[in-house]
Amino acid sequence: MAPVTSLASTVDQRIADALSAALPEAGSADPLLRRSDRADFQANGILALAKKLKGNPRELAGQVVAALADNDVIKEIEVSGPGFLNITLTDRAIVGTLAARAADDRLGVPFAAHPGTTVIDYAQPNVAKEMHVGHLRSAVIGAAMVEILEFTGEKVVRRHHIGDWGTQFGMLIQYLTEHPHELDHQGGDIDGETAMSNLNRLYKASRALFDSDEEFKARSRDRVVALQAGDKETLALWQKFVDESKIYFYSVFDKLDMEIHDPDVVGESGYNDMLEETCRILEETGVAVRSEGALCVFFDDVLGPDGNQVPLIVKKSNGGYGYAATDLSAIRDRVGRLDATTLLYVVDARQALHFRMVFETARRAGWLGEGTKAVQLAFGTVLGKDGKPFKTREGETVRLEDLLDEAVERATAVVREKARDLTEQEIAERGGQVGIGAVKYADLSTSAVRDYKFDLDQMVSLNGDTSVYIQYAYARIQSIVRKAGDVRPAPHAEVELAPAERALGLHLDRFGEALAEVAAAYEPHKLAAYLYQLASLFTTFYDQCPVLKAESPALVENRLFLCDLTARTLKQGLALLGIRSPERL
Ligand code: ARG
Repeated sequence: MAPVTSLASTVDQRIADALSAALPEAGSADPLLRRSDRADFQANGILALAKKLKGNPRELAGQVVAALADNDVIKEIEVSGPGFLNITLTDRAIVGTLAARAADDRLGVPFAAHPGTTVIDYAQPNVAKEMHVGHLRSAVIGAAMVEILEFTGEKVVRRHHIGDWGTQFGMLIQYLTEHPHELDHQGGDIDGETAMSNLNRLYKASRALFDSDEEFKARSRDRVVALQAGDKETLALWQKFVDESKIYFYSVFDKLDMEIHDPDVVGESGYNDMLEETCRILEETGVAVRSEGALCVFFDDVLGPDGNQVPLIVKKSNGGYGYAATDLSAIRDRVGRLDATTLLYVVDARQALHFRMVFETARRAGWLGEGTKAVQLAFGTVLGKDGKPFKTREGETVRLEDLLDEAVERATAVVREKARDLTEQEIAERGGQVGIGAVKYADLSTSAVRDYKFDLDQMVSLNGDTSVYIQYAYARIQSIVRKAGDVRPAPHAEVELAPAERALGLHLDRFGEALAEVAAAYEPHKLAAYLYQLASLFTTFYDQCPVLKAESPALVENRLFLCDLTARTLKQGLALLGIRSPERL
């Protein structure tokens, strides 16, 4: 199995070679090749070059064309406009390249030249609390980045930095001490919903006591001290809350059709043993200083409204460690022990300042060296249809599970309407795959940092930029292939390609390049855009080029071949986004 050189880079190389042959004084100039509707590609690089060499661009372009060696890739090349090159490829080169892709399990996509180790921090809900749409975004975007990076050959370590530590546990644990059987499960296993409602009930009851009963409040505070001191009994009760929450988390991840592995769940508490040392080093090296009793790190460019510097507090004046101390310790662990070359955090954009300060502190302390990248893949807020932060009609935050259930329900209705030969069970299964896919796709198809509107009607629509549209394109191809029966897809380098076939073929050939861009810039929305365009190009092809009724057997086989490669590319791309491709819809 071998990686395939894309037509774009083959042509780019040929033009670059011709450029340096014709104009040795130009050095290695970039031909600036891009897809074009007029021809297959257009190269614009000669314009800038002519300026630099003070020559006539059309003349230079003519010299480059003349210097182009005879080849079997470029069928036609002409100078146009002020000095562009319009390039048309041979049909043979297009089909041949696609055939090489089809022969490879990875569709000819190469591995990254220098893979490293990325530790990715995503899907990090908080213990004893309901998950919200922000947690959904982190999970969906993070899971897609995991798959995409792994596909490029990167070693990926997942870290689910759940919020499982803090003073809020004092009250909960104290309540459980006084009502010891509240989290016992006599009847065996419980489901996620029950777990969450148990936690909600305990939270409300303990909160009420905490607010009304001074003595309970005092006992709760002592509990925090006992927890931080590592008291065995207290820790055992704390663990019960963590376990109960995990039942709930896993049920939601399961609904999201997402695999989360327990060893990768290393929450805030996982770094407790390092906190003291982290603070000691920061203080000893002078990176952090005492200020009003707290241990703080200051930054010239982080100022409050009054113009004073706002510090990152690593240790509070009461001796407690906070979010920052934990994140700094996590960096030490991830770089020092896990050998990360990249730290990627899929976290709400509203935490951007926190991460900026944490990364800078880690740099000053030497925990983040020059060779280590630290990036926040920041995502925006989920808005309701009205463009305001997402709430129910009653003004409450929307429960993530209700939302997923509704998406599946709507998708099931869409599947049912279209279904001709599906059984009830198949409709339900497809409904799940379409509904969850739709939620993920909506999240992944806009640039992460932008806020986006959660609009279920739009998400499960068959028209427009939705996963349903892409899944239908996939299922339609499967149905064509089934109808073809014994006629198998096969590439035919000798056939003449119609314009819609060229456009489809050239886009198929771009898959690896698109992925490389997506992986390098952490932009899964560009993969979504690639797939949507692929499905659209397929639709045009299918409208314009009969497949099974094409004029000759070679044409039928070649078109089936294009269908098949399209399906495989769609399926692979959707899988990287965490979205299923049902065979029938
Ligand atoms: N639990 C946090 C929240 O719900 C997200 C954690 C992000 N990761 C981190 N290393 N700080 O907002």
